[in-house]
Amino acid sequence: MAAMDAAFLFLVLVGLGGSLAAGKAQVPAMFVFGDSLVDPGNNNNLLTLARANFDPNGIDFPVGETGRFCNGGTLIDHLGDRLGLTLIPPFNDPATNGSIILRGVNYASAGSGILNDTGEIFGNIFTMDQQIQNFNTTIQQIRSLLAGSTRNHFQRSLFAVITGSNDYINNYLLPISTTSSQYTPERFTDLLVRRLGTQLKALYELGARKFFVPGLGPLGCIPNQIAFRGNGSKSCVESTNNLVSLHNAKLKAMIRAHDKQLRGSTFLYWDSYSFAFDVIANPASHGFKYQNTACCGAGRSKGEIICLSIIAPCENRSEYVFWDPYHPTDAFNFIAAKEAYQGNLQDSLPRNVKELVAS
Ligand SMILES: *[C@@H]1O[C@H](CO)[C@@H](O)[C@H](O)[C@H]1NC(C)=O
Ligand SMILES: *[C@@H]1O[C@H](CO)[C@@H](O)[C@H](O)[C@H]1NC(C)=O
Ligand SMILES: *[C@@H]1O[C@H](CO)[C@@H](O)[C@H](O)[C@H]1NC(C)=O
Ligand SMILES: *[C@@H]1O[C@H](CO)[C@@H](O)[C@H](O)[C@H]1NC(C)=O
Ligand SMILES: *[C@@H]1O[C@H](CO)[C@@H](O)[C@H](O)[C@H]1NC(C)=O
Repeated sequence: MAAMDAAFLFLVLVGLGGSLAAGKAQVPAMFVFGDSLVDPGNNNNLLTLARANFDPNGIDFPVGETGRFCNGGTLIDHLGDRLGLTLIPPFNDPATNGSIILRGVNYASAGSGILNDTGEIFGNIFTMDQQIQNFNTTIQQIRSLLAGSTRNHFQRSLFAVITGSNDYINNYLLPISTTSSQYTPERFTDLLVRRLGTQLKALYELGARKFFVPGLGPLGCIPNQIAFRGNGSKSCVESTNNLVSLHNAKLKAMIRAHDKQLRGSTFLYWDSYSFAFDVIANPASHGFKYQNTACCGAGRSKGEIICLSIIAPCENRSEYVFWDPYHPTDAFNFIAAKEAYQGNLQDSLPRNVKELVAS
């Protein structure tokens, strides 16, 4: 515990490369659900191939490799920094116990998706449904810590849900996929959005009120897709981006409906696709040099082989949009979190996470 506290303190002092010193927290807690884009190490103790607790992952992170699929902080780490929170610890870590869970817990698990069978190819992971069960465990623990009503605590907390990418790239779009023979794109996107809607409603029924739900990024632009589904040029794979856009349109409509129908809730949808696409289309104007090749990986676009300890990463990580074949760099996550926190994500209120937590 002492070592852990020292690490947290260190992060508060230096920040995550950000300019903000962690001031007064703007929310009591943040609870995080999703996949490897935001997993802080929940798979480290699981029997799975979907793990990243080895170098060079974490090469630019103050505490080194943690299980994050990144050279530095995830979107959630940087968003937490802006909210004045210290790092949100992984659910599946014995040190995540006692009063530290009052600041929030991260349930995200690499390889997971909205569907139960997404991620099966990786072995043992936490599906979205399982992550919700795990949150239910935390609720019982927080109830005993607060010795009474937890309603207010959860109502004021932020719930971030970042999932769905693996249902496409590690399920529907795989050559061995059975879902693509079972479902048309229209029906598969319907299925995913309906299931996610049920999962968000389950969180609402457990006490969540403030939701931050980004759409899927332009998955056709990740080095993995360029390498395996591209036409030999380094441009984004349009068929993958079209599928993701169909998903996002339905997700946005579902989020709007939830926001209206679930009493007392506020849902913030973020069109992260447009944000990331703009960065990829105009890398230089966002400070990047390389937008279609990974910093750590091998093969075409360094997108064919995942980042491994035997692979030397690029020298200057901040020139790259992508850290590995699937995940963005710390530099990208930093600007994405800034946009999520204070950008104009939607034209109605709340416009961004800052307004969501203040509402
Ligand atoms: C919490 O974790 C710490 C460090 O792993 C351990 O020393 C302590 O006994 C744990 N406390 C509880 C209540 O499990
Ligand atoms: C997914 O798995 C959970 C157990 O983790 C189960 O409760 C749930 O019914 C399953 N969902 C579907 C749609 O099969
Ligand atoms: C959460 O846990 C409580 C108590 O263990 C149980 O009654 C309830 O059905 C659970 N809810 C969900 C959504 O799993
Ligand atoms: C590859 O596809 C992209 C768009 O998907 C297109 O702009 C480009 O011209 C194509 N390149 C080749 C070599 O076919
Ligand atoms: C790394 O790249 C960034 C962004 O292009 C640049 O600002 C910085 O000076 C570079 N650092 C080094 C050591 O070259």
